[in-house]
Amino acid sequence: MTTGHLIVFEGLDGSGKSTQVELLATALRVVGFEVVETAEPTRGEWGHRIRTMARGGEPVPPQKELRWFMADRREHIDHLIVPAMETGCVVLSDRYYLSTVAYQGARGLDWREILETSEREFLVPDLVLLLDIDPSDGLLRVKQRGGIAEPAFEDASFLDGVAAIYASIDRPYIEHIDARDDSDTVAARVRDAVSRRIGGPL
Ligand code: TYD
Repeated sequence: MTTGHLIVFEGLDGSGKSTQVELLATALRVVGFEVVETAEPTRGEWGHRIRTMARGGEPVPPQKELRWFMADRREHIDHLIVPAMETGCVVLSDRYYLSTVAYQGARGLDWREILETSEREFLVPDLVLLLDIDPSDGLLRVKQRGGIAEPAFEDASFLDGVAAIYASIDRPYIEHIDARDDSDTVAARVRDAVSRRIGGPL
């Protein structure tokens, strides 16, 4: 029996997910929730393998990439997400299965099939906050912040494909958030969406 909540942030690279995870975590803690912040790819063995590939290692075929992300997620759910939810925590995850739907879908796999398989196999989140930005703005933000390049996932036309799939996924648990404004404005939109879903003012 899980009593906690799973709230997921999704969106293109550079959409501001990690900042929004932190800001929402703070807002939830202030009103008394226990919050666990996490992300995919994880820091585990599969996540490590994925990052090495994304940062210019040997490219892998889409099906294999799909299997790696799914394996990483299974571990994430069993070792972190479910145990945290069982103790009543709100789990905030930077990416989850809609990333696989959008990114591996943009690699040419059938995104509807990935979505259906994921909903059957994995815990369906209480809420997904999909941060909407233009792919070119996202790419610009990624370049400006520097850090380690991930050429496997940072090509402009590939990201257009990712954005098109994100825009096509129609599920009641998704809330689109306009993420083109400054982070405080976006955070207010996020809090509003969360308080409507899980109840109580934030
Ligand atoms: P990212 O969120 O950038 O993680 P980090 O900053 O820790 O490297 O994720 C890395 C890339 O992985 C990102 O471009 C999106 C991609 N990705 C997928 O293609 N499929 C998935 O299922 C997930 C979780 C991520």
